[in-house]
Amino acid sequence: MNIAVIGTGYVGLTTALMLCELNHQVVCADTHTAKLKQLKSNRLPLHEPGLKEVLNRHLSRRSLSFTSDTGQAVRESDILFITVGTPSKSDGFTDLNQIKKVAETIGLNQNGYKIVVNKSTAPVGTCQNIHRWILKRQPRYIPVDVVCNPEFLREGSALYDALHPDRIVIGSDNTEAARSVRDLYDSIPCPKMMTGLRTAELIKYSANAFLAMKISFINEIARLCDSHGVDVADVSTGIGLDRRIGSRFLKAGIGWGGSCFPKDLASLGHMFEQAGLSPRILQAVRQVNETQVEYYLRRLEERLGDVRGKTISILGIAFKPDTDDIREAPAIKVIQALHQKGAFLRAYDPVVFRHRNPAGLPVTVCGEMSEAFEDSDCIFLMTEWKNFLHFDWKSHRHRMRTPLIIDGRNVLDQKALIQCGYLYYGMGKAGL
Ligand code: UDX
Repeated sequence: MNIAVIGTGYVGLTTALMLCELNHQVVCADTHTAKLKQLKSNRLPLHEPGLKEVLNRHLSRRSLSFTSDTGQAVRESDILFITVGTPSKSDGFTDLNQIKKVAETIGLNQNGYKIVVNKSTAPVGTCQNIHRWILKRQPRYIPVDVVCNPEFLREGSALYDALHPDRIVIGSDNTEAARSVRDLYDSIPCPKMMTGLRTAELIKYSANAFLAMKISFINEIARLCDSHGVDVADVSTGIGLDRRIGSRFLKAGIGWGGSCFPKDLASLGHMFEQAGLSPRILQAVRQVNETQVEYYLRRLEERLGDVRGKTISILGIAFKPDTDDIREAPAIKVIQALHQKGAFLRAYDPVVFRHRNPAGLPVTVCGEMSEAFEDSDCIFLMTEWKNFLHFDWKSHRHRMRTPLIIDGRNVLDQKALIQCGYLYYGMGKAGL
């Protein structure tokens, strides 16, 4: 089977490399020629650990190729993966233009039976639309089946997740087509769930909403922990040991961001509304997250007073470690809010500023982490990059004007920092 992967973003690139690792021949198509040029010369347009080595290997083995001619990729392949972006529009609805365009290109270029696998996260009913859009553009009728195969990978561990998933969900109205897709993953030993198209689409949204719910839940409990001097990490451990709850995604902090949770929860909310239903839990999950930054800023002001004219250093801009992705990153909201309040801002991130300049951020960029301390009134940790944890905090304390640390991810050693003279706040960390 020849496979085409259309769209070379996070999901597309990882899917293509995962399929190559499973010994399939893959062509990646994208209209972004500058990006293709980069990829062909083994340069990644994004920061993702481990991807570059695998890209290099499959380029040299010629198991992977890149083309800007999507039509040709369609004509020469039997299975076509759609992995294009599904951004949010300003009203929160999902913009399906890229998917529609790919479907139309498939219809125009279809020269025989194809299986079209949608991996882009899109509202329930999109796969049926893809089928309709393809048929509409076919010069003459040629059968085509659409399969929904949602992607559950996380940025920062994308390829590992793609090769070691907890489950693979394959939704289709045609059993044969679904089996062909399942066969691609034969060598991955995990449960493979065969289901209907719409069910697969809804599973993806429900999974992300549930994960976001776990985080918002523990963040809400962390507020109560603050009031009672209880350590939220102990509460997480205590409830997480119950296997019905599970210990993961119960780390309290400044909240969730990224390219998926905010967009997918907004889109799921619209699906509820369109069905005439009120998504009450979903609303609360989003509300708690939206007020996290406010909650932290109040704790900061309790300790520092008016922030006007004070210097606050932000450690970490990325929405999580091991990525240069700043989409919906809590750090951006914190920077904007503090800037509005008249604070001077510095920022350090080990990767984000190396790869791009997030235009418009009202911060002085630090080339080294140590620069963040100089005459600073507060260090505000936003991303739990490993090098922040292993930093020599003790030696830099004296360089700060006010030695205050706000730990937005509850990852620093509170006891050690207090012992060397820092003032420390972590949400629900039960002050020592
Ligand atoms: C998520 C889903 O995990 C993945 O399955 C889906 O395919 C895409 O969306 P991703 O956005 O890469 O993946 O990041 P993830 O690791 O899930 O973290 C999302 C956000 O939640 C981050 O901002 C992270 O810092 C935050 N988070 C995560 C917490 O605040 N606490 C936690 O316990 C876990």
